[in-house]
Amino acid sequence: MKTKHLLTLCLCLLCPLLASAQADSIRPLARWLDTEGRPINAHGGGILYHEGRYYWYGEHRPERGFSTEVGITCYSSDDLIHWKYESVALPVSEENGSDIERGCIMERPKVIFNPKTRKFVLWFHLELKGKGYAAARAAVATADAPQGPFRYLRSFRLNPGQYPKDWGEEQKAKARFTPEDYEMDWWTDPWRVKITDGMLFMRDLEGGQMSRDQTLFVDTDGQAYQITSSEENLTLVISQLNEDFTAPNGQFIRVAPGGQNEAPTIFKHRGTYWMITSGCTGWAPNAARMFSAPSIWGPWTQHPNPCTGPGADKTFSGQGTYVLPLPQYGEDAFLFMADQWRPKSLADSRYLWLPIRFDSEGKPQLRFEKSWTLESLK
Ligand code: GAL
Repeated sequence: MKTKHLLTLCLCLLCPLLASAQADSIRPLARWLDTEGRPINAHGGGILYHEGRYYWYGEHRPERGFSTEVGITCYSSDDLIHWKYESVALPVSEENGSDIERGCIMERPKVIFNPKTRKFVLWFHLELKGKGYAAARAAVATADAPQGPFRYLRSFRLNPGQYPKDWGEEQKAKARFTPEDYEMDWWTDPWRVKITDGMLFMRDLEGGQMSRDQTLFVDTDGQAYQITSSEENLTLVISQLNEDFTAPNGQFIRVAPGGQNEAPTIFKHRGTYWMITSGCTGWAPNAARMFSAPSIWGPWTQHPNPCTGPGADKTFSGQGTYVLPLPQYGEDAFLFMADQWRPKSLADSRYLWLPIRFDSEGKPQLRFEKSWTLESLK
C-alpha cells in the first residue's frame, strides 16, 4: 500500500514537470494544435520574424482533395511553440474567373518584409482553377500588417524574353533547338545535354519561365531573391527581386539543370549559401539534396544528402519547405521546416521541424529528433 502511495506521489510531482518539458519542445510529426486547440493548418509554408514575433504562413488544406478552398493562413507566436491563429491572410476570391478563384491551387507561400515600402510581401505558387498544374505561375500579394489582409497583385511566369545573367554569346548560340529535339526521349544522355543547354528554357523564353515550388530569401545586404522549381521541375531558377520585392528585376541564374529539384529551401551560414531541396515524387517523400555556393550567383556545388540516421533516405518521411535562421540562439542556429504530406487528408499532413546541426567541416546535417528544444541550439 505504502509503495502505491509513493508511486502516486511521484507521478503527481513528475507529471507537471513532464508536461512543461513537452510544452517547451518541438515534436516533429505530432499533432500540433493552435492556442485555441484546433490543428494548425499551414502547410508548405514559411516563417517571418518581425518585431519580436514569429508569423507562420502556410497553405490551408482541405480534409479531402487538394485544391484551395480557403486560402493562405497566418499564425503568430513569440516562442515558435505556441501558435495563435491570426487570419486567412490571403483568402481565395469568390469572383468567377479571378486568378485566385476558390478551387485554384495556392502552394508554398512565403512572406518577407520590405523596409523601404514598409509592406509585407507574399509570394506563392499559383495554379489556375481547373487547369491542373499547367499554369506554373508565381503570384504576389502585399499587406501593411504581417497578419494581412494581403491584397492580391498579380501572377506571372518568370523573366519573359530574358536570358540568365551568366549566359554569354556562346551559350546563347548553343541554345538553338529543332522540333525533333523536343520529341527526344526523356532521361537519355543526349536529352540531358539539351536540357542543360536550355531546351526547355528556350521553349518558354517568350512567355516566361515556369515557377512551381518556391521560396524567398533576403540576403544580409537587403537584396531579396525568389528560388523556384522551373522548366517542368527540372531546373531551379534564382531570380533577384526588384526594390519593392514584388517582381523579378531581370537578374537570374539557372541552377542544377535537369537535376529535378523541388521544395527549395535556402540559408546563409558563416558566408556560405546552402540550399536543401527534394527530388520530384509528388506527395511521396524522397531523399533530400544539398548544394552550397560562395555567392548566391554560384557556382553551386552538390553535396550528399544532409540527412543522417534512420529514415534519412526519405527525409524522415518529409519534404522541406523553409529554413528559418534563429540568430537569437546563435550564429549556428537554424530551423529546417518540412511537411509530411498525407494525401488522403492533406489537412492532417504533419509538420517535421528539425534543428540543422553542423558537422566538423561546417556542413549542415539533419537527424530525426522526436522531441527537441530551441535551447539545445545554443
Ligand atoms: C509536390 C510539391 C508540392 C505539391 C505536390 C502536388 O511534389 O512539392 O508542393 O505541388 O507535389 O502533387
